[in-house]
Amino acid sequence: MAKIRTCLFGLGHMGKNHLRVLQEDARFELVAVVDPVTDALPTTASAVPLHKHLPDDLTFDLAVVAAPTELHYSLVTKLLEAGHNVFVEKPAASTEGQARDLVALAEKKGLKLAVGNIERCNPVVGALRGVIQSGILGRLVHLNGLRAGGFPRNVKPGNNVILDLGVHELDLFRMFLGPLDIVHGVGHCTQTSSIYDAAEISVRSKKGVTGTVHVNWLTPQRMRSIRVTGSEGLCLVDYIQQTCELHGHNLSKKNTPFQRLKWTTDAQGLDSTSVPVAQKESLKEQLDQLHLYLSGEAHILAVGAELIESVSLVEQAEKQVASAHVLPFHDPKSGH
Ligand SMILES: NC(=O)c1ccc[n+]([C@@H]2O[C@H](COP(=O)([O-])OP(=O)(O)OC[C@H]3O[C@@H](n4cnc5c(N)ncnc54)[C@H](O)[C@@H]3O)[C@@H](O)[C@H]2O)c1
Repeated sequence: MAKIRTCLFGLGHMGKNHLRVLQEDARFELVAVVDPVTDALPTTASAVPLHKHLPDDLTFDLAVVAAPTELHYSLVTKLLEAGHNVFVEKPAASTEGQARDLVALAEKKGLKLAVGNIERCNPVVGALRGVIQSGILGRLVHLNGLRAGGFPRNVKPGNNVILDLGVHELDLFRMFLGPLDIVHGVGHCTQTSSIYDAAEISVRSKKGVTGTVHVNWLTPQRMRSIRVTGSEGLCLVDYIQQTCELHGHNLSKKNTPFQRLKWTTDAQGLDSTSVPVAQKESLKEQLDQLHLYLSGEAHILAVGAELIESVSLVEQAEKQVASAHVLPFHDPKSGH
């Protein structure tokens, strides 16, 4: 496959990461960056034209969109209309209806459209999938996801922590458990009166497995983890450290691919081990997966119905949160 001529839209926090991995990858040729505000490339970047607006005569095969979430729908629509394949940062759009429109437009135009639900590409998620599929945990009972910290610098009305962080967890829960119902949600607006910055969402799979997602932008340190509880054991995954631990009575004796690992057993007879994880930057794995997708090969990115579903689960959770009791916003200036 020829080099993929790529134009990057948005050179903020996430755009700079995309710039770095795109410039390091010989399969992609970054031909331009478009950002109406940012004036300079990072000092570590190789030279590439930086435009305030997309030049009319620029030709490229792929647009990578890392602009603010509230612009995804209009920007991606324009790029698809103009005949470009698009990789858009998460969330693909702000509502299920918008996500449906984008997928339908890409299909109509015969173009590729994928969303950067990046945690899918975290190698530790591959390890967790292996654990779940092996059956070592027994019958799956409950998933508990925690994604906290990292208040975004520019939050606009319309965005919220469920859309920004919850989308990762809900997308992964769907991947592990199949179709989901949102059972319940509660949330808080602590920093502004209209934007949820903390929320808890309960889900249930068609097979009856339950899950809870806690997301907040408030915790000072970034925490990203998942606990998977089965009838016979527990798997603890840290997405940042890329660690995956197994705990349970007699797990080491089970005939599974994990039997050959080094296990410890404590005084209560609880077996524990660490599942090896091939350490890799998720963003680089995501680029590998994007290349597979563009080449027409099997990949793990969220596209089509899965892209829509990741936004639809968020929207259902937002509705639950909006109709539930929420701690009232206390304006610190008002003194009560
Ligand atoms: N995958 C992840 O883990 C992850 C992490 C952080 C952010 N994100 C996503 O990346 C997107 C950007 O977030 P961010 O934190 O980088 O925001 P940011 O505010 O740091 O950067 C956004 C940039 O887009 C530019 N921009 C504004 N309008 C534009 C336009 N019309 N065309 C091109 N550029 C435009 C802004 O000037 C800014 O430089 C969001 O959708 C966010 O959800 C994903």
